[in-house]
Amino acid sequence: MAEALDDLLRCPETGAPLRRDGDAYVAPDGRRWPIVRGVPRFVPDDAYVGSFSFEWNTHPTTQLDARTGAGWSEEILRAKTGLSPEDVRGKVVLDAGVGAGRFSDLMARWGAARVVGVDLSLAVEAARDNLRAHANASVVQADIGRLPFAPATFDLVVSIGVLHHTSDTRAHFERLVPLLRPGGTICVWVYPHEGAYLQRNAWIPFTRRLPPARFHRWCRWFVPFARRHRRRVLVQYALQLFPISDQGLGLDNDVLDTFDAYSPWYHGTHTPDEVVGWFEAAGLEDVRVLPWDTAVRGRRP
Ligand SMILES: C[S@@+](CC[C@H](N)C(=O)[O-])C[C@H]1O[C@@H](n2cnc3c(N)ncnc32)[C@H](O)[C@@H]1O
Repeated sequence: MAEALDDLLRCPETGAPLRRDGDAYVAPDGRRWPIVRGVPRFVPDDAYVGSFSFEWNTHPTTQLDARTGAGWSEEILRAKTGLSPEDVRGKVVLDAGVGAGRFSDLMARWGAARVVGVDLSLAVEAARDNLRAHANASVVQADIGRLPFAPATFDLVVSIGVLHHTSDTRAHFERLVPLLRPGGTICVWVYPHEGAYLQRNAWIPFTRRLPPARFHRWCRWFVPFARRHRRRVLVQYALQLFPISDQGLGLDNDVLDTFDAYSPWYHGTHTPDEVVGWFEAAGLEDVRVLPWDTAVRGRRP
C-alpha cells in the first residue's frame, strides 16, 4: 500500500521529495518517517484525536457500505459533496480525515485514479484494512495542519465531518486549498451552528475527558435503554438535555454516532455564510452551498 505513495510524499517540514529506505521515508536532510504496518506515519502519536483512534477501531465497518450493503454512506457522500462517480473517475483524490475509510472506499470504487486517505488518529489502521483491496487507495497518518504533499497535487479534496474537530477549522481548511491543482475541486462539510450541535457544546468540556472505553460502554448501555423507554417522561426529559443519535440505521450506528457526537476534543460549529466566506477569501470560484447547508464546494481557478 505504501509504495503507491512514493511519488506523492514530501517532507512536511521542507517540502523536499522523500526516498524509500526500508521501512521508512527519508528526506535529503536525513529526517525519517517510519512506515508502520503498511502506513507511513508523519506524526509521533494521535495527539488530540485519541477518541477517534478508539472509535474507528471499535467500529471499523459499522458505516462501511461495502459491509452493510445499506448505501447510506454513498448517499451522504453524494449529498454533502454534490459529487457523482463521473466527477471522481480518473482523479487524484485526497480524503482529508479518512476515519475508517468509508468515503475513500466509495471513491476508489467510483474509479478515482488514486485516493489518499489521511488521518491524525489510529483510525488509519481501520482504513488500511478497509481499503486493502483497492490498488488505487492508500492511507497516511498525518496532521491536516502539516501534510506531507507538494502544492497542486490533487484534482479533488474531500473533507467530510473533520475540520471542526481541529483546533482552528478555518486555518485547517486553508491548509487544504493549496494542495489542489488549478481547476481542482474542494468539498467540505462542517458542523452547523444550530440545534443538537449547539447543545453538545455544553457537554463536551466534560464528556471529552472521560476515558473513551468507559464512555463507549455507557453509550452501549444508554442508547438502547433510552430507545426502549422513550415514552417515559424521565427518559424524554433526559433526551432533551442529552440528545442521542437515532438515524434509523441500527443500534450499532446509533451507539457509534452518539459516542462520536460527545467525545471529540474539538467541536467547532459554523454557519454557511462563514464557510462560504472562507472559500471566497481563499480565491475559490463556483462556490456552491449544498443542501446540507454547511456543505460547501468550490474550484481553484
Ligand atoms: C468524525 S470523523 C470523520 C471521518 C470520515 N470523514 C467519515 O465521515 O467517516 C473525523 C476524523 O477527522 C480526524 N481528524 C481530526 N483532526 C485531524 C487533523 N488535524 N488531521 C487529520 N485528521 C484529523 C479524526 O481523527 C477523525 O478520524
